[in-house]
Amino acid sequence: MTNSNTNGFNSSFGAIMAAAGSAVGLGNIWRFPYICGQYGGGAFLAVYICFVFLIGMVLMMSEFVIGRRTKMTPAKAYVALRPQRPVWRWVGILGLLTSFLILAIYLVISGWTLNYFWDSVTGALGRIGGEAGAYEEHFGCFASGAVRPVVFLLIFLGLTAAIVIAGVEKGIERISKLLMPILLVLLVLICVRSLTLDGASKGLEYLFLPDFSKLTGEGVLAALGQALFSLSVGMGVMIVYGSYLPVDDNILKSSMWITVCDTVIAILSGVAIFPAVFACGQEPTGGPGLVYQVLPVVFNSLGGFGGIISITFFLLLTLAALTSAISLLEALTAWLNERGMKRMKGVVLVSLCVAVLAALASLSFGDGILNNTHLYNILDKATGNYLPPICALLTIIFFGWFMKKDDIMDELSNHGTVKIGYFKVFYYFLARIVAPAALLIVLVAGIVGK
Ligand code: PHE
Repeated sequence: MTNSNTNGFNSSFGAIMAAAGSAVGLGNIWRFPYICGQYGGGAFLAVYICFVFLIGMVLMMSEFVIGRRTKMTPAKAYVALRPQRPVWRWVGILGLLTSFLILAIYLVISGWTLNYFWDSVTGALGRIGGEAGAYEEHFGCFASGAVRPVVFLLIFLGLTAAIVIAGVEKGIERISKLLMPILLVLLVLICVRSLTLDGASKGLEYLFLPDFSKLTGEGVLAALGQALFSLSVGMGVMIVYGSYLPVDDNILKSSMWITVCDTVIAILSGVAIFPAVFACGQEPTGGPGLVYQVLPVVFNSLGGFGGIISITFFLLLTLAALTSAISLLEALTAWLNERGMKRMKGVVLVSLCVAVLAALASLSFGDGILNNTHLYNILDKATGNYLPPICALLTIIFFGWFMKKDDIMDELSNHGTVKIGYFKVFYYFLARIVAPAALLIVLVAGIVGK
């Protein structure tokens, strides 16, 4: 049985919005600006863009081809294309397992974001301000608490589950078509505000001026990891979305649009955040800190407008996280659906399991009551550094070396109705040689360099 009983996306525009919704998320808005700054600004950006277009986009196209060709989830798609080698099934399952782990950690951070949005609306966030370090202390206390972060992550999960239960077209496609344009408008508004602050140019310099002496081997690894995570490729989520693509959708074009959109939003996030951080004399420190500890200080210093900008920003981040979490939950639901479980039942089952893991991860964060388990850190490392590149490497090897070339070209050209010309040679070269070689080098270097 295939998962085609979920009817798929209705239009190419809807499909692009949904896949772009998956790609654009916390990875773009808090993670990208920080690591870009940390690993050399403009120099990192150049390497990141190369990886995005030479590896990430190729993987996205490959996953779309595998998904639409088979109309199956990764658990069955590989074997359907290569029945002689049932072992490939495990690559699909590893991808789905990775999606499950990513979803757990994603929910923790999304819960923080929703809480900060709520505190911006009630004004509680603004009232903390004043003394140096107040927001840092507040974030530490809040995120390692036993109740509040868990409650907010459960609310966020409830929202995600409700949309996935509504289905692919009526839930995911409809919400993405609405949210993605709103997200872009909100982001541009924040960029404008940020750029008109005194001293904004220092932030732009920090972000864009290439300083290749700052670019380390580790920075190159970080750029690859970030490219995969940001485009949601490697773990098979895009295989599931590919199985919903309309038959006449031009996969090459759609993948390019999604990739460009994801990259532009990552860069805009940098433009929104760094000028504001510098204009307010803050340090561009890393990770969750940048968004939750530094930005409230920035918002506070904006006077009357600060409250509104704070609400806007955390709303933006919540919406971006929502469309990404939806794609992760959808991939897992589709898998159960393919095995004969009703959509509603599948969503409830995955949600219950992931809620337990996410709650445990949350309780182990910082000084949380389960901090001796290090669960948060283990999940963070596994899903950020290791599992996605491993899954991505296996996927691209399958695609480049085990799938029939005719099947690939037939799917890419919509059965010969779309001209793909020389691009097919270029694409095939990237998928067979460049992408697997780069992934392998980076993985080995990453593990050996530890
Ligand atoms: N791409 C999402 C982001 O940038 C995260 C994600 C990864 C979503 C993998 C789905 C699958 O935040």
